[in-house]
Amino acid sequence: MREKQIAEYEKHISGVLISEEEIQNAISEAGKLIDSYYDGRPILLVSILKGSFIFLADIARAVSVPCEIGFMAAKSYYESTQSSGIVKITMDLQQDISGYHVVIVEDIIDTGRTLKDIVKLLNSRNPISLRVITLLDKPSRRLVDIQPDKALFTIDDNFVIGYGLDFGEKYRNLPYIAEYVNE
Ligand code: IMP
Ligand code: MG
Repeated sequence: MREKQIAEYEKHISGVLISEEEIQNAISEAGKLIDSYYDGRPILLVSILKGSFIFLADIARAVSVPCEIGFMAAKSYYESTQSSGIVKITMDLQQDISGYHVVIVEDIIDTGRTLKDIVKLLNSRNPISLRVITLLDKPSRRLVDIQPDKALFTIDDNFVIGYGLDFGEKYRNLPYIAEYVNE
């Protein structure tokens, strides 16, 4: 029984698309880029849960500017590989962001709907500045006009898992990015 469950879990992992080492190298570069943007000024890193929790933990340790952390949650996918087109803010930030240089930390930009809504919302709260950094970008899927200030990797139109990204809440703990395969 247990073997069957493991086999069922593993058969959907395509193999490594982006390795741990590639991710860590890109994060270290991105940390330097963030440092250069802010030049010692304090920032607020806003993690969009759940997908970005691992990326946030690594990017926070790659920057040297003084930094605070905030969390928000948005949901747009419901146990499928298709976007529902509905974006809901299910958990909001605890802090007032006026007076902050805000950096939104996203896992992946797909249609762009989630991010566009979050950017609009946060901009309405008057931060000093607002930038977006995303681990992955799927520009070919974009349905709304939005671009990150920095994307660590640009990928094709495939559903990916690992390093925080899930399929049906599973696979977030893979230390690398893989493609999700159906059979
Ligand atoms: P968007 O609003 O269509 O840009 O969707 C963004 C959200 O959908 C991301 O923050 C992810 O949570 C999820 N998502 C989009 N593409 C993928 C994928 O390939 N794997 C896992 N989650 C994804
Ligand atoms: Mg997400």
